[in-house]
Amino acid sequence: MPIRRSKVLVKWIYENQHKIQAVRYCSSLLRYKELEESPQIEPEAVTAPQTTPRPQITPEFSFKYDDLQVRLAAPYQLQPKPEANELGFGKYFTDHMLKINYFKELGGWQKPEIIPFENLSIHPAAKALHYAIQLFEGLKAYRGVDDKIRLFRPDLNMQRMNLAAQRSGLPMFDGEELIKCLVRLIQIDQEWVPHSESSTLYLRPTLIGTEPTFGVMEPDSAMLFAILSPVSAYYKTRSDGAVSIYADPNVVRAFPGGVGNKKVGSNYGPTIAVTSRAAKLGHQQVLWLFGPDKELTEVGAMNIFIVYINEQGDKQLSTPPLNGLILPGVTRRSILELASQWEDLTVKEEVITMERLIELNSKGRLLEMFGAGTAVVVTPISNVGYLEENIPIPTMKQSQPVFQRLKDTLLAIQYGHIDHPYAKIIS
Ligand code: COI
Repeated sequence: MPIRRSKVLVKWIYENQHKIQAVRYCSSLLRYKELEESPQIEPEAVTAPQTTPRPQITPEFSFKYDDLQVRLAAPYQLQPKPEANELGFGKYFTDHMLKINYFKELGGWQKPEIIPFENLSIHPAAKALHYAIQLFEGLKAYRGVDDKIRLFRPDLNMQRMNLAAQRSGLPMFDGEELIKCLVRLIQIDQEWVPHSESSTLYLRPTLIGTEPTFGVMEPDSAMLFAILSPVSAYYKTRSDGAVSIYADPNVVRAFPGGVGNKKVGSNYGPTIAVTSRAAKLGHQQVLWLFGPDKELTEVGAMNIFIVYINEQGDKQLSTPPLNGLILPGVTRRSILELASQWEDLTVKEEVITMERLIELNSKGRLLEMFGAGTAVVVTPISNVGYLEENIPIPTMKQSQPVFQRLKDTLLAIQYGHIDHPYAKIIS
């Protein structure tokens, strides 16, 4: 067959695959119709209000929610839902997933599809598998006290995803369109959003370079997929309810000009051996230091915060500035914004060195230390292992700790106890 005709055929198959599948899965379509007819909140309602009309979305620029095709799982494919106390973190997955292909040859982004959860079929030479040309996000859907499902600032995850895509040579897209597709996916799998305030549905959108060639260069094909996992606590804490962390000055997580501020898998794989060493020494996480001054950067996969009495005698909440080494966490940003409205607390982004931490602690001015992230929300720290020593941190000894107030405020927003613009109702 001449090349031109086969290209046209390939393009037709990609554009019409949903129809072919729809015929094969007509029983699922009947269920889909039922779902379609049940009342639902328009995904538009959860994205930012538009002041000016948005430009026409072309496949080169982004996929579109309006093109979304849905193929529901057949009844025999539906998985039983585990009890909330068995969930753990990322062990179970819902019945459906979102998949969006990108082929430069075919003009760019293809139609988004929601399909029954399935294994991926990927060429062994795909660039994601060899050069870690990939990125991911983590956000959660919460079932509130009013039984409504909420997302927490999903627009910030979309911005961060696009920044990582740009750095990795992966195709960028319109974040609002992805949010709308994710909302639809959650609506379909809404019974998987736990009916419990100690668990949530964790969303894992992931973008991988699929071009099957060994050249270290921008992939001309990619796949964006999103899977959903009902989760409970990420860490096991110590008996005091906090974690112990281990600071090894001989290892770094990120460096200037690198990708420490991007959510790419290559930031996480190389932390495993260090985390295992920390675990053998009795610590739950690693405190990542950087540079000759041993600056605190992150803890495990979380942003780090301290609370101390500053030179003016005021209580101060501090976290390292976004200097390229630090992930711009959604929880981090929300904590800074919320706490800066509290009159009894000074809030600052500042460099914190190990020397400073030890000095504040030895003078009794260090009050609290905690990690914050989507997975953990806020996790108190009560011990730092450093240079053969254990430094006890009095976080759990405070009568009204800042970490607890922040955690309670965030959870109250996420689970709908208080109305707040950070929480977007989706169902
Ligand atoms: C998150 O808080 O979402 C994370 O990044 C943790 C994840 C790597 C498990």
